[in-house]
Amino acid sequence: MPPLLLALAVVIWSPAEPGNPGRRLFNYSSLALPPEHIPYFLRNNQRVAQLCHQDPLCPFKDALGDLSACWGYEENCAPDKRFGYPVCSKADVRWAPSVPAAQDLFWKQADFGYVKERLSEMKTLCSDSQPGDSSLRCSSHARFCQATNLYLDLRRPRRGHERYKEDFIQHGELGGRCKLSRASLVAEGDHKSPLQSWYAELQTYTELDVQPIEDGLCDLVIEKPTVFMKLDAGVNMYHHFCDFVNLYVSQHINNSFSPDINILMWDTSFHAYGDLFPETWKAFSDYDIIHLKTYDSKRVCFKDAIFSLLPRMRYGLFYNTPLRGC
Ligand SMILES: *[C@@H]1O[C@H](CO)[C@@H](O)[C@H](O)[C@H]1NC(C)=O
Ligand SMILES: *[C@@H]1O[C@H](CO)[C@@H](O)[C@H](O)[C@H]1NC(C)=O
Repeated sequence: MPPLLLALAVVIWSPAEPGNPGRRLFNYSSLALPPEHIPYFLRNNQRVAQLCHQDPLCPFKDALGDLSACWGYEENCAPDKRFGYPVCSKADVRWAPSVPAAQDLFWKQADFGYVKERLSEMKTLCSDSQPGDSSLRCSSHARFCQATNLYLDLRRPRRGHERYKEDFIQHGELGGRCKLSRASLVAEGDHKSPLQSWYAELQTYTELDVQPIEDGLCDLVIEKPTVFMKLDAGVNMYHHFCDFVNLYVSQHINNSFSPDINILMWDTSFHAYGDLFPETWKAFSDYDIIHLKTYDSKRVCFKDAIFSLLPRMRYGLFYNTPLRGC
């Protein structure tokens, strides 16, 4: 078959999109990635790699040849195939007994080993049992979380001057229909602090009797994946880039790099956020950043949300990065 006909055949044969034969199998421009990162993405998203194989118009054909390269945090990532690994010339014996131990420590504290550590910590705190249920999963100290069908009641917001009021959300105002392990949630509370953990916001996570979206509890349903962020000072380049770096690391943890997402700034004040580096958001989202107060007076539900790593976490990136031993 001539290439053009083959292309048409593939575009028309599109079982995932019945009634919409003009749609591509995958929206390739939905990946906000530099070309050299595409092979890593395809390795970690085999479904997209398959579609690319089948699609003569896939712009990533070149990358499909060798999909062995990996970031380092994946299962079955061979050490010689990983993106990089630190080289230490000596070990500081106070932190690491040998050069290999020093390299490993550096990799875990300041490199993709950091992602591997967070992934290994992920725990289900609220578990779903049927379609339409909610769920909540977090890494240790509630520093990164994933939530589905999340219910948030902002009908009576306790909004004031404080940006990160820790009792802003009270029992019954945030939650979902799932089986909550209250003890597991409470166990993640030891880093509770505005820019170190999401514990203050999630501590009152409440089990609902009904499915918030399916059973009509929400005044507004946000379908688009949403990233919740608590931001450090937007007028200071060093502090603000701690926000961006942690958003980028969170994309790795979630294995998702689409800019077709909402970024929601968790802020319990009615103040605007002063941002001297707003262009940077364009690397992450096609849309303007949303202030939480936008949803005041509504019960808003999020189909799919993540809570991004925070800018001042203990041993975090890169406000408190110890970089020891190397
Ligand atoms: C593909 O993704 C881009 C970038 O997110 C978006 O602007 C565009 O609307 C998407 N196209 C379709 C057909 O969904
Ligand atoms: C997180 O990853 C899941 C699974 O790939 C994806 O469905 C979801 O949209 C991602 N969430 C965000 C906020 O990007």
